[in-house]
Amino acid sequence: MPKVLVTGGCGFLGSHICELFKKRGWDVIAYDNMTTYEFKKNAYMKPESRYHNQRLLEDLGVKVVIEDVRDKETLFLWTEGCDYICHTAAQPTMTLSWEEPERDFTTNVIGTFNVLEAARKFNIPVVSCNSIHCYGPDKINSEITERETRFVREPVAIDENEPLLQGVVTPLHASKTSAENYIRCYIDTFKLKAASFRLTGIYGPNQFGGEDHGWVANFAIRNILEMPLTIFGAGKQLRDILYATDVAEAFWCFYQNPVSGIYNIGGGGKTMISLLECIELIEKITGKKSDLRFGKDRFGDLRYYVSDISKAKKYLKWEPKVMPEEGIQKLIDWIKKNENLFIKNLN
Ligand SMILES: NC(=O)c1ccc[n+]([C@@H]2O[C@H](COP(=O)([O-])OP(=O)(O)OC[C@H]3O[C@@H](n4cnc5c(N)ncnc54)[C@H](O)[C@@H]3O)[C@@H](O)[C@H]2O)c1
Repeated sequence: MPKVLVTGGCGFLGSHICELFKKRGWDVIAYDNMTTYEFKKNAYMKPESRYHNQRLLEDLGVKVVIEDVRDKETLFLWTEGCDYICHTAAQPTMTLSWEEPERDFTTNVIGTFNVLEAARKFNIPVVSCNSIHCYGPDKINSEITERETRFVREPVAIDENEPLLQGVVTPLHASKTSAENYIRCYIDTFKLKAASFRLTGIYGPNQFGGEDHGWVANFAIRNILEMPLTIFGAGKQLRDILYATDVAEAFWCFYQNPVSGIYNIGGGGKTMISLLECIELIEKITGKKSDLRFGKDRFGDLRYYVSDISKAKKYLKWEPKVMPEEGIQKLIDWIKKNENLFIKNLN
């Protein structure tokens, strides 16, 4: 039976990858240090809910290993005998990246370097997660036009040749882009079968979404729990959001079609939605109004991002299937079914 090591396996995206490979008959190891630093900022999160995804995976028969990607020896130990690495462990938030730049650097750069070394040592394919933040905000933000509920741009979609790091560079921009440079380097120098996925905003069950990371879930949870919700900027920021199982499927597709390289993984034109439009959709599904507050635009934020996914379609034979109406309904169903994971009646 083939075996996959999923770093960050107990996180949001990692849990979906573990589930998909397990259901397709693979042995799965979720390798996660179960950090809680990000959740401390998330007011509605019960501390014990941190272990929700771990319990879910153990029930499915996934082997959960509580270790750190910064510990190279231990990572090597668990990689031995595996056929594939899906690397999702990361420090993923912008604000934490400047509050704790060293954690950001060691996790995202050294962690990814260690994963690449493990893949090289055992000669197995690897996919790592980058984010659209690698592009930087200035160029794209200067090309958009404001409409009633969203920003628009021509051409609509952005491909992998878009220049990187345009404008202010936060530690997160720097660490994610550095990690991706190492992936390119391991492809070119060591002929490793590897890919870096530039991921758009992802949403779905098992996501605890806070203000810093996971905005669709943050909006849905706050609507259902009747908590106020802050929008930074006018709410017209646009994204091609992607449902988590579609992203997990992209990891599967790379194993089937291991064409090394950098790939935009997003919803493309079909899943475009602005923050205001997303809130309206959530309100339509739940029948509840959200209690909206507005804050200042956030430093380093992209106001627009829609991926050109032609490359992933061509080489990975991948494309997204779940549209926002269906995916957000499923996210809302999950939150309602799991209301006990959240602290209610907060202001
Ligand atoms: N969620 C999104 O919308 C989104 C968008 C773009 C890119 N991404 C990228 O996708 C990846 C996964 O994101 P996510 O939303 O699932 O994040 P997440 O925070 O839910 O999951 C990350 C997991 O990694 C684990 N982890 C952190 N540091 C670790 C370490 N040193 N060793 C081992 N495990 C560690 C955490 O405990 C957590 O369970 C990240 O690289 C992120 O930057 C996510």
